[in-house]
Amino acid sequence: MKHVIIDTDPGVDDALALMLAFSSPELKVEALTTVAGNVSLELANRNALKLLEFLGVDGVPVAPGASRPILREPLDATEFHGKTGLGGAVLPEPTMHLDHRSAVQLIVEKAEELGDRLTLLPIGPLTNIASAILANPRVTEMVAGLVIMGGAFNLTPYGIGNTNAVAEFNIWCDPEAARIVFSSGMPIIAVGLDVTTHPENRLSQEMFQEIDVLGTRRARLVADLCRNLVRRYNGSNLHDPLAVATAVDPSLVETKRYKVNVETVGDLTRGMTVVERRRRKWRKEEANMDICVKVDSGRFLKLFMDRVVHGR
Ligand code: RIB
Ligand code: CA
Repeated sequence: MKHVIIDTDPGVDDALALMLAFSSPELKVEALTTVAGNVSLELANRNALKLLEFLGVDGVPVAPGASRPILREPLDATEFHGKTGLGGAVLPEPTMHLDHRSAVQLIVEKAEELGDRLTLLPIGPLTNIASAILANPRVTEMVAGLVIMGGAFNLTPYGIGNTNAVAEFNIWCDPEAARIVFSSGMPIIAVGLDVTTHPENRLSQEMFQEIDVLGTRRARLVADLCRNLVRRYNGSNLHDPLAVATAVDPSLVETKRYKVNVETVGDLTRGMTVVERRRRKWRKEEANMDICVKVDSGRFLKLFMDRVVHGR
């Protein structure tokens, strides 16, 4: 059993990722922490609470985090996720309330309580994770590590940018936060666009049709979340669900170990995850990240259908 905190900016694929996390016995979700990214913090908070109520989840605190990146101006992705952040899905206004603690307070408290039983699972910009490190640097020695959705590492033909030519949205949103996290020394498994935009790892038109005719409560939510994206992009990327799936079962992915830094100055290259490929002997010692380069797509998509769509 892996104890996790999911740091999220829900977001269509975040919603699918939460559905996966809460139907996976391999994970104990200790808390959700919210961050501005796909949508404003206010919407991220509401959507997180709405989703927990839809899933009938009790006793999992939702702690609000950063309403903006550390330095950069906030810029949301509502053109992809819709003005509510949940695509075409309509969920009742939440009756649950946010936790009294901030995201940073909750992350630090859970790190002190659980130590290396805790894995941090950020699927949005890394602002809260970086802020927790700055607030209490001992977090980096306490927790087991991170599984992140983020980065475009150019290690497969699909590892190109989705926000500019070279950067993935979560890293692009707050590159300074990513640089703090990447240089923290914490073990990091990075699930980036190299694998999440690979055609075999996406929600295809055919899968969508199969889901759309099921008519169950969960299937209707999945279809309403994804319908607009499937129509516009002939399918939908499952970025955040693949990160959660990697935390659930690391055997689903193959990784390669590299030293990675983040571009924070470049105009054209803001947020680029820069992989050190030069064959120099120090590379091994200074490598700071295990980057996903291949996925067992069949097993991943079966896990998605079973646990997200069918809830089994
Ligand atoms: O680039 C994809 C990532 O950015 C996903 O986490 C998506 O939800 C958005 O946050
Ligand atoms: Ca996200």
